[in-house]
Amino acid sequence: MFSIDPYQRNLMGNGSSEWPAIEIGDPMGGPTVAVVVESRRPDFAPGDHIQTWSGWQDYAVSDGSDIRKLDEAVAPLSTALGPLGLTGFTAWYGMTRVHDFKPGGTLLVTGAAGAVGSTAAQIGKLRGLRVVGVAGGPAKTAYLKDELGLDAAIDYKADDVEEQIRRALPDGIDAFYENVGGPLFPVLMEYFNPHAKMVVCGTIADYSDTELPRGVNYLPRLITLIHYRFVDIMAFATPYVMHAFPDFLAEMTPLVASGKISYREEFVDGFEKLPETLLTLFDGSHSGRKLIVRAD
Ligand SMILES: NC(=O)c1ccc[n+]([C@@H]2O[C@H](COP(=O)([O-])OP(=O)(O)OC[C@H]3O[C@@H](n4cnc5c(N)ncnc54)[C@H](OP(=O)(O)O)[C@@H]3O)[C@@H](O)[C@H]2O)c1
Repeated sequence: MFSIDPYQRNLMGNGSSEWPAIEIGDPMGGPTVAVVVESRRPDFAPGDHIQTWSGWQDYAVSDGSDIRKLDEAVAPLSTALGPLGLTGFTAWYGMTRVHDFKPGGTLLVTGAAGAVGSTAAQIGKLRGLRVVGVAGGPAKTAYLKDELGLDAAIDYKADDVEEQIRRALPDGIDAFYENVGGPLFPVLMEYFNPHAKMVVCGTIADYSDTELPRGVNYLPRLITLIHYRFVDIMAFATPYVMHAFPDFLAEMTPLVASGKISYREEFVDGFEKLPETLLTLFDGSHSGRKLIVRAD
């Protein structure tokens, strides 16, 4: 099984990925769930299910240091690519280790119906925050409210988005988990409360840009807001914080296994479907479910 993730767009050479770029001729990188065919290590046997970073290829060789054994009895194997894999780790790390988000405040999550965003939003609810999610289209905002139990949802594709933002954020933003960036951010940043804390997880709206956006330059305004409202903005990238992965698994495995953190998956069958499936993350057709391609 192959995990399909937005950063794979950036691995293809625009230099902005937190992971090393791939060269032409290399396989696309990314997490997989695989089966051990042959092993010279006593702790891995043929037939074992493992999670690896072997990318888009049929076979790979590992010295065992970058793989972990999976137990289907604990959680379905596919969760090792979703809520109990890099996706869940990204949400958990940003919500629990980058900032200490205090209960009671308002947390805004962009890309909230997506794989990382939906997990981050649920962690926010479990931590006692009022959680507002931003997503594209009424089906996704209904999912945020009705299935994830968020306090409010904003459809950024609707004509009345600014009115929706006003209604959803009557007390401003205390905590912000940013997955998207793009043109909505200058609108949202006006809602920062004094001492608001923001974690920049990703800016998917910009990943395919080849030149700087044209139009109003909001940078001076952002600097002013940071200065006068003491906004604390931090970014993180999972490759640099993998030491926390065991803590993440210890905390999140029971929450996922018990259903306290829910997740949605979408499976596509066929190795040859990998490229076109990746593109759906960027063309507006993606359901928001964790995308996984299956191949024998
Ligand atoms: N910091 C790290 O180490 C790290 C690690 C992994 C992932 N990430 C980041 O986490 C974020 C979420 O990743 P994910 O795997 O959970 O993907 P995802 O959110 O499940 O999928 C992408 C979603 O992004 C939204 N989107 C795409 N293009 C957009 C645009 N131009 N404007 C606004 N929204 C757009 C779409 O949702 P809508 O239909 O709602 O627009 C789409 O469904 C990404 O920014 C990714 O790069 C960061």
